[in-house]
Amino acid sequence: MIAADLFDLAPVIPVVVLDDADAAVPLARALVGGGLPVIEVTLRTPAALAAITRIAAEVPDAVVGAGTVVRPEDAERSAAAGARFLVSPGCTPRLQAAMVASGLPFLPGVATASEAIALLEDGVTAMKFFPAEAAGGIACLRSLYGPLPQIRFCPTGGVGPGNAAEYLALENVGCVGGSWLTPADAVRDGDWDRVRTLAADASALRPG
Ligand code: 3PG
Repeated sequence: MIAADLFDLAPVIPVVVLDDADAAVPLARALVGGGLPVIEVTLRTPAALAAITRIAAEVPDAVVGAGTVVRPEDAERSAAAGARFLVSPGCTPRLQAAMVASGLPFLPGVATASEAIALLEDGVTAMKFFPAEAAGGIACLRSLYGPLPQIRFCPTGGVGPGNAAEYLALENVGCVGGSWLTPADAVRDGDWDRVRTLAADASALRPG
């Protein structure tokens, strides 16, 4: 798998924060059941790596990756835990080298043309656009398409049910990411029906 393949698997990548690794498998089953197989578990909690390992082992239809990869060592740890892709909110040469060394496809975060061009120089054409709404949103992505049409983005940060379809209609958007599929109270209460319904609504944004 290369990073651009993630764009073909689902229109939305759920960005997940898990405090309890025990919730990982039912949460992943609900997302996959709703039609969203690509799942980004953010490395923002101590439970994240264990959650990735459990999903990788127990939910075969899920494609689980690690998000919030910000330290070079996060890349190797995520790969060892069973992550199948990496997502970072931004990129540095050291972080990029670590993500390449992991052997996994990765979506490095960019918010400007210069950051995107720096990655393009290394042959990277699939990127996260973060923080999407704060960095200029749809108007910014439209503007970037002019000079940089070879890049496909996954906008994340402020994307939700109200604007996801408009992002997905852009030529240079491969998929969108967001945390709205897994509301904190639904995860805490184990309300997997609600997560599944949110995922089903999101997967319908791009009929398969
Ligand atoms: C991310 O890590 O990509 C964002 O925190 C998700 O942003 P959202 O909560 O606005 O969807």
